[in-house]
Amino acid sequence: MKTCIITGASQGIGRAAAIRMSRDPEVGNLVLIARSEDGLAATRDAMESDGKRIELVAFDLADLDAVPAMVKRVNEEFGSIDMLLNIAGYAEPAALLDTTTENIMTTFQVNVFALIVLTRECVKYMRHSASKILNVASTAGVTSRPGWLAYAASKAAVVSISNTLTDELAEYGIKVYSISPGRCATELRRKLAPEEDPSTIMQPEDVAEVIATLMRDDETCLDGQNLIVRQAPKAGR
Ligand SMILES: NC(=O)c1ccc[n+]([C@@H]2O[C@H](COP(=O)([O-])OP(=O)(O)OC[C@H]3O[C@@H](n4cnc5c(N)ncnc54)[C@H](OP(=O)(O)O)[C@@H]3O)[C@@H](O)[C@H]2O)c1
Repeated sequence: MKTCIITGASQGIGRAAAIRMSRDPEVGNLVLIARSEDGLAATRDAMESDGKRIELVAFDLADLDAVPAMVKRVNEEFGSIDMLLNIAGYAEPAALLDTTTENIMTTFQVNVFALIVLTRECVKYMRHSASKILNVASTAGVTSRPGWLAYAASKAAVVSISNTLTDELAEYGIKVYSISPGRCATELRRKLAPEEDPSTIMQPEDVAEVIATLMRDDETCLDGQNLIVRQAPKAGR
């Protein structure tokens, strides 16, 4: 049975991914990471837990020094790490002249540095074929986003990290995926576009379905590229 670690699992796309992955018969253990205990508990309540072990890890990913011990403990408990879904993200949109140093630091700490450190620690226990890593970047990391400087730059870094890791981890048989969702109805999107009607855009469950497809054993062609996940506007919207 596979062990799947999911960050950002307390809400939004991470929650939807956790719920969707709990329906995967190959996955026996799910480790959900985020800071909010209540959010994680609500995610667990919505998951299909039949015969699965679901562990909630209330953890601040900005605490980079604590990541190695956390991952070591997870590996000891479950005996392997087979999938890592790096979904957690932070956004506090601001243009250059309004961007505080703290904003830049927190954005990169969560979106980039924590992703690298968590991936490094998981790969130590992952070195066998059929393991998969998925990083959630953003269309904001691919094209210009005036007013979202630090966030957009951090997501460009996620695309770059995914490219390099695809080649670096190939020798271990680990596949690395990168997805760049477009507008998706979550809290984070509400911060970026407060005026938007969330019912008119892509839902977290849509992105979760794509993630589940990429995590299947028989998906072997879509790693190593930045996949844009976007929904065309529906008629009547
Ligand atoms: N929504 C969109 O339109 C969109 C588009 C492209 C890309 N994305 C990306 O998709 C991913 C998921 O975002 P979302 O839209 O689902 O946003 P969301 O609803 O705001 O969820 C963000 C998640 O990240 C977690 N997180 C944030 N800071 C953390 C920290 N310091 N330590 C641990 N966990 C932390 C949050 O958990 P806690 O607050 O409980 O810690 C939450 O579970 C992000 O990487 C985002 O950049 C979103």
